[in-house]
Amino acid sequence: MAKDKNDPPFEIPFVGDITKFLEAEAPQEIRDAITKADKDDILSKSYPYNEELKRKKYDRHMEALQVELVKMFWDIKETGKRLAVIFEGRDAAGKGGTIGRMRQNLNPRSAYVVALPKPTETEATQWYFQRYVDWLPAAGQIAMFDRSWYNRGVVEHVFGFCTPQQREHFFHQLPDFEKMLVEDGVTLVKLWLNVDRAEQLRRFLARESDPLKQWKLSWIDVEGLKRWDAYSDAIQETLERSNSKQAPWTVIRSDDKKRARIAAIQTVLNAVDYARKDKDAIGEIDDKICGGIDVLNV
Ligand code: ADP
Ligand code: AMP
Ligand code: MLT
Repeated sequence: MAKDKNDPPFEIPFVGDITKFLEAEAPQEIRDAITKADKDDILSKSYPYNEELKRKKYDRHMEALQVELVKMFWDIKETGKRLAVIFEGRDAAGKGGTIGRMRQNLNPRSAYVVALPKPTETEATQWYFQRYVDWLPAAGQIAMFDRSWYNRGVVEHVFGFCTPQQREHFFHQLPDFEKMLVEDGVTLVKLWLNVDRAEQLRRFLARESDPLKQWKLSWIDVEGLKRWDAYSDAIQETLERSNSKQAPWTVIRSDDKKRARIAAIQTVLNAVDYARKDKDAIGEIDDKICGGIDVLNV
C-alpha cells in the first residue's frame, strides 16, 4: 500500500524482523521458493495447482455462494437453528479473510465473530472452556470463532502458555464438551486452514511491509517462524485427538486463498439443512484441497 516501504504514511510499531528471518534463518529451499516466484505462483510443490483460481471463475462462484449464505441465514433465523463455525490454522493461514467473505452479506448482530484475546488473570483460573461458552450461538445466530478453544492444543503448547497437565486435561474434556454442544442441537463446523511454510512466510513479509496489514503481525508470529516443526507436531496431534464422529474436522489447503474460501463456505452450506438449498450453486467441493484430516499429510 505504501508508495515506498521505507516511507510509511505513519509510524509502524516494530514487532520483529521478518525480512531478517528470511535472509538469515529461513531454510534455503524456502528462501529460494519465495525469491524466485512470481506473485501469483503457488509456492507449495505438493499443491495440486500451479496458479491461483482465476479471478472471473472465483467471483462467479463466490457470488452464488453469497446468495446461498443469505438463504441459509434466513432459514437459521426462521427456524431458530444455532450454528457455530470454528476457524483454525496457523498464523496467516487465511482465517480472517475467509471469515470476512462468510459474513459479508449477513447481519452482524446475529452472525458475529468471536476473536477472544489471551485469557485474563481471572479467566485463567476458570474452567478452560468457560469463556467460550459465553459466546455460543442462541437460536437464529451464527457464531464464527476466529481461533477457539483449540489454542490449548497448539499455540499455548508451542509457547508454553499452559502446562502439559492442563493440555492433557483439555484433550480429556474436549470430546464430551463438543458432544454436548452437538447433542444440544448446535451445528458445529470445524475448519482447519492449512498453509505451507513458504506461503506463510510470504504473507508475513507482505504484512511487514504494508502499514495496513501490520496489525496482523504479533511477536507470536515472528517467534513462531522458528517453531514451524513444533507447530506441525502439535497440530497433527491435536487434529488426531479431536477428530470425532460428532465433530469431525474439515482440513482445507489454503495456499490459494480463493480456492480455500470457496471450499470453506461450501463446507458450511453443506452442513446446514436450509430451505431452497441450491446444490448446483454450491457446487462440488474440490477434494484435492479439502477433506478430512488426511489432507494434512500431503
Ligand atoms: P492472532 O490470532 O492475531 O494470530 P497471535 O498470533 O498474537 O494472534 O496469538 C495467537 C493466539 O495465542 C491468540 O488467540 C492469543 O489470544 C493467544 N495467546 C497469546 N498470548 C497468550 C498467553 N500468554 N496465554 C494464552 N494464550 C495466548
Ligand atoms: P448481540 O450483539 O447482543 O445480538 O449479541 C450477539 C451474540 O454475541 C450473543 O449471542 C452473545 O452470545 C454474544 N455476546 C455479545 N456480547 C457478549 C459478551 N459481553 N460476552 C459474551 N457474549 C457476548
Ligand atoms: C489469518 O490470516 O489466518 C489470521 O486471521 C491472521 C493471523 O493469524 O495471522
